Amino acid sequence: MIKVTVACLSLLVPSVFAFPSYQSLAPLSRRELEEFIANNPVADIPNPPGPLANDSIKLVNDPAHPFIAPGPTDLRGPCPGLNTLANHGYLPRSGVARPDQLVTAVMEGYNLGNDFAKFLVYQAHLIDGNPLTNLISIGMKTPLTGPDPPQPASIGGLSLHGTFEGDTSMTRVDAFFGNPAIFNEQRFDEFSAFSTEFGVQGTYDINAAAELRHQRLQESIQTNPQLVFVSPRILSAYSEAVFPTVFFVDGREDNGQLTLSAARDFFDMNIMPVGFHRQPAAVSFPGIMPLVQTIFNKHPFTPGVNNGVNNFTLMPQTPDLFDFCGIYEDIVLRVLKIQYPNPTGQLKDALNKNLGFLFSAVEGQNCTQVFPFGTD
Ligand code: HEM
Repeated sequence: MIKVTVACLSLLVPSVFAFPSYQSLAPLSRRELEEFIANNPVADIPNPPGPLANDSIKLVNDPAHPFIAPGPTDLRGPCPGLNTLANHGYLPRSGVARPDQLVTAVMEGYNLGNDFAKFLVYQAHLIDGNPLTNLISIGMKTPLTGPDPPQPASIGGLSLHGTFEGDTSMTRVDAFFGNPAIFNEQRFDEFSAFSTEFGVQGTYDINAAAELRHQRLQESIQTNPQLVFVSPRILSAYSEAVFPTVFFVDGREDNGQLTLSAARDFFDMNIMPVGFHRQPAAVSFPGIMPLVQTIFNKHPFTPGVNNGVNNFTLMPQTPDLFDFCGIYEDIVLRVLKIQYPNPTGQLKDALNKNLGFLFSAVEGQNCTQVFPFGTD
């Protein structure tokens, strides 16, 4: 269960975490909002796809999905998993997609379970995508996602810092130090060094993941005065640390050991290795959360924020890593409400529809649905 009220939480978490450039803007009036929507057509919102009819192992780097490097106008962002799917045509190569296309792509390409895919995608779409046009950029903000709803909604794409993208990434720098969406060779050197030191036969495995995840947090605590490491970032950071040991490993091996050559392919080149097969069966929460627990147990932490370098202030009142429903409620009641303080009409309908899709993903985790915009 969530441990604090949303009002309390928004006081506790510094504004840098949530949309710094829009924080000071007053919400638009109801009339301005209605006028805006009257002039901007709202897209149909298809239901998300269900589970794959056949979720068995499959060659996914196949002739129907050749690698083509992104062109000058194609958008790529901080997620090596999605960048790779776009480069192989599982997603539109432009890097702009509908959320249902994203769900299909991660199921087809890597064999993510349906619930898990919907959780990642609808969370991202609500925070970074355009509910009016039903499009999201996997990279930076772009006019290709159509006319934006009024501020303070940011529609920033996955690259926007402080939304889904956050601090302590494995192969990207913290936003305080530069562009957090770009692959960083020095970070990858550290990824490789930790794999060599801690992984079985020099691979990135669960042991390497545990040590690297801990080190990335410690380094950010020591160097990033604006570090934010609270819900929901804590969950994405820890799940992304184990994703490569699952989804980037060829399904024919499925041994949790990612070679550095395959890691280079995915993280840097955003290409599937030759002959790459997806996971042998769909992987959802039950496949990922125990791995997250394992790496957490090696180096437990409490959520918190830096108030200046090496001054990590613990925030034990905020949802912790295993308060899954608390994190769901935090995303919906706090993070989303900052962008949409008082939506009405078709904008509210579109948001509520996507919120329903998000809840359908977490229902199986025994969460209770919450309604930031009411139930009418
Ligand atoms: C399904 C929808 C997904 C969304 C919306 C999404 C979004 C993101 C975002 C915004 C980040 C940047 C977070 C950060 O480090 O600041 C990220 C990182 C990452 N994603 Fe995804 N992702 C998705 C699926 C996947 C899948 C299926 C995989 C693996 C096959 C994957 C692997 C990763 C990895 C390994 C990172 C960490 C990169 C790093 O720390 O250097 N993601 N993702």
